[in-house]
Amino acid sequence: MEILNDLPEEQYVEVDEFLAYIGIYDDDKRLNAYSRWLQKLDGWIRGRTVVEAGAGFGLISRKILEHSPAKLIAVESNPLTFNVLRNRLGGDSRVVPINMSIEEFVPSGHIDLLVHEFYGSMLYDENLFALEMLRFTPEQVFPDGGELRAAVVSLRDIHDEVVDRSVLRQLEGVIVGDLFVEHSLTPQDFDIPVARYRFGEGIATFDVDISGKDGELVAFSLFITHGDDVVCSAIECQNWSIGWTPRAGDRFRVDYIVEDGYSRTIFSWKNRTTG
Ligand SMILES: C[S@@+](CC[C@H](N)C(=O)[O-])C[C@H]1O[C@@H](n2cnc3c(N)ncnc32)[C@H](O)[C@@H]1O
Repeated sequence: MEILNDLPEEQYVEVDEFLAYIGIYDDDKRLNAYSRWLQKLDGWIRGRTVVEAGAGFGLISRKILEHSPAKLIAVESNPLTFNVLRNRLGGDSRVVPINMSIEEFVPSGHIDLLVHEFYGSMLYDENLFALEMLRFTPEQVFPDGGELRAAVVSLRDIHDEVVDRSVLRQLEGVIVGDLFVEHSLTPQDFDIPVARYRFGEGIATFDVDISGKDGELVAFSLFITHGDDVVCSAIECQNWSIGWTPRAGDRFRVDYIVEDGYSRTIFSWKNRTTG
């Protein structure tokens, strides 16, 4: 969704962010994955105080409410999204909707569980960094981790009539979300760790060496994790894009720079072999 007319800067930013998240609510697999995990976390919810950071339109909040918390504090920073949230959940006496950044929120009592969905397609390119700036310590966080993993892919395994080698050459150093929509990749194909996030530890990024792998393309997938388990991945949940980039060497890195409330993804080949 894009804004097609000119707007004052402040309104533009608010509406743009509001619209940016609307598409996620169509992703039933994402919601079902969270729902299954909330079932496992029932003991952390029933009769307890739960915070949802970035509650959006309240879809996950509704799932949390099915497990009978004593109190659900639904924190949402975007004022337009917050209006929708308050409208939808404000009538439930267990819900306290708060229009604030989670980094500014200071609860009056103990928080048993914090639930969030702050993941970007490149893992740390959306809002995960906000969880490192909390002014309270929840006893449990769900999900508590995430990984960005890569797969090396041969162009001959992707049957695309438009994107051929000459197109790919123009995209060196660029990671393109959903460049190929048709592919046969499975989560198991993504066996190369690129970056790892753990609540309380932050983000770790790795020097990646793909010299033992054949293929002219590198694909990236987000994996949301909790403990040692995968909650869902970009392969299964349509909300996140698979990132694609032409191979230009054997070693690369993905790094992140957090600045002015945004996280930028920096991608670089360490030993380019094409020219
Ligand atoms: C990916 S959406 C998730 C919405 C909802 N939790 C769900 O999964 O259905 C992220 C939401 O977090 C909000 N958000 C982003 N950064 C935030 C922050 N630092 N504090 C509070 N809310 C934030 C966004 O406006 C957006 O509504």
